[in-house]
Amino acid sequence: MSALTITPAGPLRGTIAVPGDKSITHRAIILSALAEGDSTISAYGRGEDCLNTMRAFQAMGIQIEERPEQLRVRGKGFWGLTEPSQPLDCGNSGTGIRLLAGLLAGQDFFTILTGDESIRRRPMGRVVKPLREMGATIAGRKGGELAPLAITGSRLRGLTYASPVASAQVKSSLLLAGLYAEGTTRVSEPRKSRDHTERLFRHFGIPVQEDDSAVSIEGRPAVGWAGKPVVVPGDLSAAAFFIVGATLVPGSDVTITSVGINPTRTGILEILTEMGANIQILNRREEAGEPVADLRVRAASLHGVRIGAERIPQTIDEFPILCVAAALAEGETAITGAGELRVKESDRIASMATELRKMGASAEETKDGLIIQGLGNTRSKRLRGAACTSYGDHRVAMSIAIAGLTADSETRIQDTDCIETSFPGFESKLLELLTKIS
Ligand code: S3P
Repeated sequence: MSALTITPAGPLRGTIAVPGDKSITHRAIILSALAEGDSTISAYGRGEDCLNTMRAFQAMGIQIEERPEQLRVRGKGFWGLTEPSQPLDCGNSGTGIRLLAGLLAGQDFFTILTGDESIRRRPMGRVVKPLREMGATIAGRKGGELAPLAITGSRLRGLTYASPVASAQVKSSLLLAGLYAEGTTRVSEPRKSRDHTERLFRHFGIPVQEDDSAVSIEGRPAVGWAGKPVVVPGDLSAAAFFIVGATLVPGSDVTITSVGINPTRTGILEILTEMGANIQILNRREEAGEPVADLRVRAASLHGVRIGAERIPQTIDEFPILCVAAALAEGETAITGAGELRVKESDRIASMATELRKMGASAEETKDGLIIQGLGNTRSKRLRGAACTSYGDHRVAMSIAIAGLTADSETRIQDTDCIETSFPGFESKLLELLTKIS
């Protein structure tokens, strides 16, 4: 189990690219595998989460050539997957396991989906329950609430489902099952979650209907879809660590190239700007149906902000790093309606409150959020260097690393192997920005 030591430093300067978007990479692998013929997936996310999804499709008979900058997927068509001879290991990935559960429910073979210790603690009932309503045959621990999940492919029927949670994983799982179901599958959610599945369906020419409150799909399309090139935008959730780092460390000026700015993901940019951050969105363009831009971030002083339930889905993965920004802002930040954070790779409300307190911040947990009294990031009031842990959660590890840059002494973070799940090379990118003199 590795550790990361952060010595306070700065400023962050220079231009970098971040890994390809994790959510889009998973989906691109899935839809390319089901396409007829070859697809290329360029600038894909090379973290373990996406590689596990890639390996799952290889185990189901799909040839995927892996190069550092591009995957070439030899799609075998709508019914082209074959039964894997072993359980599919989704590692740490909630997206991997939940999307695969939907896709595999309507195949004509048997699969077992499992993952690491964190994934085996996370709630699966949110997909298993509606999939069973569609006719799926899924067994799992605690009546299907926990992985491993054993899926016996079944004949599915379309479903109209009002999801109690705003979750792109639930929505996408049901849409993938819906592709194989008879009739229409329609999913609504309390607030719109990220829409990468819908956009990528369109990119591959798969019809999907969207209105204000729901997404629907017709099952068993008469014609399949052809392989396509997909260029994956940089992951805004990975960029977020450097956006906050550059904002907090005086004298910083960082440009991050080709970052996805899908409006269902940009809560972090809106909230930081409201807090006083200096973020410029440059060179807007589109790749594979997704908006992309370069982001230039210069150091700025922040003030506290109130974040309520309506802003949670488009910011969901950025709360750990947002807590760091809040800890160094002037005044109070209150986050409410964010109970979903308790069922991520770790309980992110507890993880961040505990670790930031070790660093001298005032962070109070509530049932569904946090209240943070910011220090104001002045030279006299700084975070303290501390001995911290990641709880095996990649986003907690990277957030504490950024907090450590602003502290008065060294911070040591235990259990940082998890960074590999989403951001291989995080430490070297950080060093690259710290050593650029311009
Ligand atoms: C994701 C959806 C979100 C997000 C996760 C990726 C996706 O999870 O937190 O990192 O790719 O669909 P939920 O669907 O649980 O909100």
